[in-house]
Amino acid sequence: MGNQLRVLLLGSPGAGKGTQAELLASAADVPHISTGDMFRHAVAAGSAVGLAAAEFMERGALVPDDVTIGIVEERLRISDAGRGFVMDGFPRTAQQATAFDALLAKFGWKLDAAIEFAVPRAELLRRLTGRWTCPNCGVTYNLDSAPPLAAGVCDRCGTALVQRADDSEATVAIRLDVYERQTAPLLAYYRGAGSLLTIDGTKSVEVVHAAVMRGLASFAEAAS
Ligand code: AP5
Ligand code: MG
Ligand code: ZN
Repeated sequence: MGNQLRVLLLGSPGAGKGTQAELLASAADVPHISTGDMFRHAVAAGSAVGLAAAEFMERGALVPDDVTIGIVEERLRISDAGRGFVMDGFPRTAQQATAFDALLAKFGWKLDAAIEFAVPRAELLRRLTGRWTCPNCGVTYNLDSAPPLAAGVCDRCGTALVQRADDSEATVAIRLDVYERQTAPLLAYYRGAGSLLTIDGTKSVEVVHAAVMRGLASFAEAAS
């Protein structure tokens, strides 16, 4: 696949957006842009954005739209985004979707697809409470489906793995409800625009990735 792929990933917390974004971004050689990762880095760095975001993230709520739209616009101005992007976790509200459309128009870019990973709630809960990540290189593991070779240690760089602060059972339940209320309505918006690609996210990581590649190829064919 050549450059200039522009997609956004929708789907509940734990649906596999980050996992699939990594694979797709590397297959298409475009940057993986994750608002969640950007916020976590900002919190760790203690920046103004981090201070604004932390209290919302801790309780599983969305960071305010103006802050979120601001960091996305800033990121899209970095030159590598001219090659395209896999946008992971943005937009998540109607206001963010409207602002994203305006940004695309301003840059003269067209969205290739909005990809939804569909996964039932019970599986999401299992995935999130079993997730461990490497704070150094960002690799994501799962105690059930993708355990590290040595318990608690990153395969790639040897750093001790950590759990996300918002992956406690109570906060996960809030995040899932926030998705249903504030983000799921965007599915109809992208379906109406003819850009929604829904993928069964319950299959293995490799099978889901193959389905994404097939779905994007058929979208590209239909558009040409
Ligand atoms: P964010 O970091 O985006 O979190 P999220 O949307 O809750 O999604 P996750 O990252 O938890 O799940 P994922 O879909 O990436 O799944 P993953 O691939 O890791 O946002 C965090 C917070 O930041 C928000 O709550 C909010 O406060 C703030 N924020 C971010 N964006 C915002 C925005 N636009 N507006 C406002 N606020 C915003 O997979 C999960 C687990 O499952 C892993 O262990 C993985 O190994 C495993 N897994 C993945 N695929 C499979 C598979 N096919 N089979 C079995 N296991 C699998
Ligand atoms: Mg993620
Ligand atoms: Zn690592």
